[in-house]
Amino acid sequence: EIHQREYLVNGEMRPWNGEVSEVYSPVMIPAADGSLQRKLIGTYPVCTETEATEAMEAALQAYDNGRGEWPTMSVAGRIKCMERFVYKMSEQRTLVVKLLMWEIGKSYADSIKEFDRTIEYINATIDALKDIDRQSSRFEMAEGLVAQIRRSPLGVVLCMGPFNYPLNETFTTLIPALIMGNTVLFKPPKHGTLLHYPLLEAFKDAFPKGVVNTVYGRGAVVTPGLMATGKINVLAFIGSSKVANDLKKRHPKVNRLRAVLSLDAKNAAIVTKHADIGLAVSECLLGALSFNGQRCTAIKIIFVHKDVAEEFTRQLSAAVEALKPGLPWTDGVKLTPLPEPHKPDYLKEVIDDAAAGGAKVINPHGGITSGSFVFPAVVYPVNEGMRLYHEEQFGPVIPVVPYESIEEPIAYQINSPHGMQVSIFSNDAKEVSSLIDPFVNLVSRVNINTQCQRGPDVFPFTGRKDSAEGTLSVHDALRAFSLRSLVAGKLN
Ligand code: G3H
Repeated sequence: EIHQREYLVNGEMRPWNGEVSEVYSPVMIPAADGSLQRKLIGTYPVCTETEATEAMEAALQAYDNGRGEWPTMSVAGRIKCMERFVYKMSEQRTLVVKLLMWEIGKSYADSIKEFDRTIEYINATIDALKDIDRQSSRFEMAEGLVAQIRRSPLGVVLCMGPFNYPLNETFTTLIPALIMGNTVLFKPPKHGTLLHYPLLEAFKDAFPKGVVNTVYGRGAVVTPGLMATGKINVLAFIGSSKVANDLKKRHPKVNRLRAVLSLDAKNAAIVTKHADIGLAVSECLLGALSFNGQRCTAIKIIFVHKDVAEEFTRQLSAAVEALKPGLPWTDGVKLTPLPEPHKPDYLKEVIDDAAAGGAKVINPHGGITSGSFVFPAVVYPVNEGMRLYHEEQFGPVIPVVPYESIEEPIAYQINSPHGMQVSIFSNDAKEVSSLIDPFVNLVSRVNINTQCQRGPDVFPFTGRKDSAEGTLSVHDALRAFSLRSLVAGKLN
């Protein structure tokens, strides 16, 4: 068990003797009465608005209206600090990976992937900054003026990441925000808090005081007040659209706030009658069920042409049944327990709703629940009248919709409040090109014969409508957390 009794503010680990929150693992163990119980794995501080405000004041002071040590430090100096951080962070790999498994139930292979991807992301960010710096050392000339175009920091950034990538996605905003010379405060997600604890020393050691500060506690209590001060310059939030909008609205001058947001999504796969069914099944399986479907980029609804719908559904069900369930550290495990306690009941509700409308769970184990574990369900035939057609299930349920005309999935995307990604499966090149245009201006990424996903991290990652604001990727994030400013003068 890890009992965290301190938090990082203004370069020091402040002791905490107040209220703490208990962390229960999605991994369940049998209790004395034989029932399954979530295992207690630690506690962390439930700080109040007072400590959150202190964290923000520390960040403001370190920024000092752009005159602080960090925002004025040379790029080479900032890179040196970041390299020191990577070195110190790497020392914590084993513990952080273990906590990823225990806190959010991510498999060992995926937990390793999350940690290593984050280190690679930081190293790529350092290289990208070197590129930007080379460009800034050039002079531009126009109309008798000579100018040096720079990338300047924006101020204080509040970073909040999601439970499904508590390390990686928190760092896809935190790291670029930092390296561009901003000062930051970050609040770890509720599920996935403890795993940040071993990294606090690395932040403390690598960066000047006040550059990185933590906000612990209940999000709904500590973050709205911070926004209401109007002193947060950038809100970097990955999570639900509702929370992001509530937070944005708190800022007294929303036009002075830059928001970098990655939010809700309901990505569709479209399998036409010209698709390679085997390929579509294996890609949809990965897309819909990696980390139990708990990804913003997951495929959350599949439209299949009616001529191939039954065959597709049959093969998909067989593939789902072959996936190995188990504890996160089990070899080859693909299905693991779910961290959100309400999720099993919610998934049952949407499956029951579809059943009431005439759909069936096709695979024999689909929907079977044991404690925090839900075996994935392939639900067919789903239609517009069902909740699964509209709601982002963010879990292991795959709605399959048979369609007659391609106008149905197009209308679905037009009417959807979301616009992140789509995957089109077809082996007919003409058909594929005729489908790119209707979708490319409705979502931010069209995938052909492959699953939806964020990576590779050099590709822009964003969304339309309620799915995102701003763009992330190694290069885009450096732009998102800086301003293209210039120093210009007349040539004598
Ligand atoms: O949950 C949203 C993540 O951005 C998904 O990332 O596609 O690399 O799994 P991923």
